[in-house]
Amino acid sequence: MSLILLKEWLNENVVKLRVDSIISQKCKPGQFVMIRVSELGERIPLTIYDYSRHDNYIELIFQIVGVTTDKLSHLDVGDKIMDLLGPLGNPISSLKENKVLVVAGGLGIVPMLAHLKKVYAKTIDGIYGVKKQDSLVLLEELRECVSNLSIFTEDGSYGSKGYVSNDLAVMLTNQKYDHVIAIGPIPMMSAVVDITKRYNIPTSVSLNPIMVDGTGMCGGCRVKVSGEVKFACIDGPEFEGLEVDFDELIIRSNIYTERGHNCGCEK
Ligand SMILES: Cc1cc2nc3c(=O)[nH]c(=O)nc-3n(C[C@H](O)[C@H](O)[C@H](O)COP(=O)(O)OP(=O)(O)OC[C@H]3O[C@@H](n4cnc5c(N)ncnc54)[C@H](O)[C@@H]3O)c2cc1C
Ligand code: FES
Repeated sequence: MSLILLKEWLNENVVKLRVDSIISQKCKPGQFVMIRVSELGERIPLTIYDYSRHDNYIELIFQIVGVTTDKLSHLDVGDKIMDLLGPLGNPISSLKENKVLVVAGGLGIVPMLAHLKKVYAKTIDGIYGVKKQDSLVLLEELRECVSNLSIFTEDGSYGSKGYVSNDLAVMLTNQKYDHVIAIGPIPMMSAVVDITKRYNIPTSVSLNPIMVDGTGMCGGCRVKVSGEVKFACIDGPEFEGLEVDFDELIIRSNIYTERGHNCGCEK
């Protein structure tokens, strides 16, 4: 059981929790935890956004999208999260380059800011895209890390209207980037990699397929990388995007959406 120390709504759908946890003593940027809120509930993966070894807490930021994230959002300071398993996944390796471009979509901003703790570059430019202005979170934190930031909203309510990939080809033609980091929904990362591939720029992605156990046992998070089967939970979640089979990953994610839940859990 892990005690909630602090709760903050970043917008009407996104919550930040600070949780007292021994996981803070071992975790590193890029890792995640599996959370279970109730006895019959499913486990869901959430990125460790931040942590303090001194004060023994980790911070999680999540968007309410379904049953478990909704239940989690109803917990308050003083409540306890039933199960918190971690740290899981591999920490990100540090990146030392001259010029890096980071591309964040939606709540991909959470793992992106965790990633940026390990990026050492002379220049870091950024693109951040969301559906609408209200969905922009952690903007100030991102601005502190990047020199030039372009913002896109799908409805044009803030920044430029469109998608993060809109100006990407132009940016990559006009400037020499040594590395791109793209984190967001799977179709977004796929669209970015389609473009960076043409310029042959190494592109780190953090994959978020459906995970069931998070420990390499169930095969739910299977992805094909360089033609080999990998499990995002134990081999990732960070991979070289140019080598990921996104077509297969998109098909697998959609199968889950179409079938819904029929496994006997509370969903
Ligand atoms: C390694 C990893 C780290 C993650 N970190 C975060 C994070 O820091 N913050 C955050 O808000 N979310 C994160 N996610 C996504 C998060 O795990 C899902 O949103 C969550 O499992 C949804 O559970 P639910 O029961 O609320 O919704 P469900 O009822 O399971 O699903 C509701 C909707 O969300 C979609 N969905 C379910 N699981 C995922 C998934 N893994 N990725 C994308 N869409 C999904 C479903 O297709 C469905 O449309 C992460 C996922 C992974 C794999
Ligand atoms: S979540 Fe089960 S193998 Fe990765």
